[in-house]
Amino acid sequence: MSKKLLVGNWKMNPQTSDDAKRIFASYKKISVKISKTVLIACPPFVYLPLVSLTKGQKKVLSGAQDMFFESEGAYTGEISPRMLKNLGASHVIIGHSERRNKMGETDEIVSKKTIAASVAGLIPIICVGEATHDNDGAYLEFLRNQIKASLSGLPIAAAKKIIIAYEPIWAIGAAEAMKPEDIRETALFIKKVFADIFGQEVALNLPVLYGGSVNWRNAADILSIGQVDGFLVGRESVNVPGFIELAKAMDQV
Ligand code: PGA
Repeated sequence: MSKKLLVGNWKMNPQTSDDAKRIFASYKKISVKISKTVLIACPPFVYLPLVSLTKGQKKVLSGAQDMFFESEGAYTGEISPRMLKNLGASHVIIGHSERRNKMGETDEIVSKKTIAASVAGLIPIICVGEATHDNDGAYLEFLRNQIKASLSGLPIAAAKKIIIAYEPIWAIGAAEAMKPEDIRETALFIKKVFADIFGQEVALNLPVLYGGSVNWRNAADILSIGQVDGFLVGRESVNVPGFIELAKAMDQV
């Protein structure tokens, strides 16, 4: 069985590199006590050099929270995929709902970034999710369109190496996560949409993560009932005691 993934999206935290070092030290510490879970720390760009690993270290991987789709040139303020790769990043989060909603990132931009990340040899973690959840299935239609548009133009070979993070927006930063039964249903739906685009075989191997108010208390149920391959976590990613408990809880499933 492939390993479960615990991706920590640090967002715009912490404010000092000393705190970033302290948080990352706890990732390294817990990583040696777990065996079925891979940790991926995704700090702000400026802290990536602090969390990049010495060669051969596979316990904690590092990723970025975004990148630009062009490979180089006059793009003030942007970061290229190769810069991330050269800093040791293996993964990159693309199309987080906060970028889609607050920074105007469209499906088209997400698809360009996904393709550019793949070309650079980074594993894209593409975020999808509906803003509101209804009981008549309209949210599934929204998801289908969002997935298709966000992956538009992606070659099959690249589709074999991506990760989808399902993050219902209404469950991010909330009091409770989505119900594990509903997560299972939606994760299956995502695989079905993926199969329609890239074929059954590619879809079978697609890792689907869940994100939105995951913590050590709900992790085991979401993993076992929800049938997902891991988590993308926000708040708990920089909350050291909570993150340690979460990693342990996941590893026991
Ligand atoms: P949360 O955030 O875990 O704090 O709900 C998840 C995310 O935004 O990726």
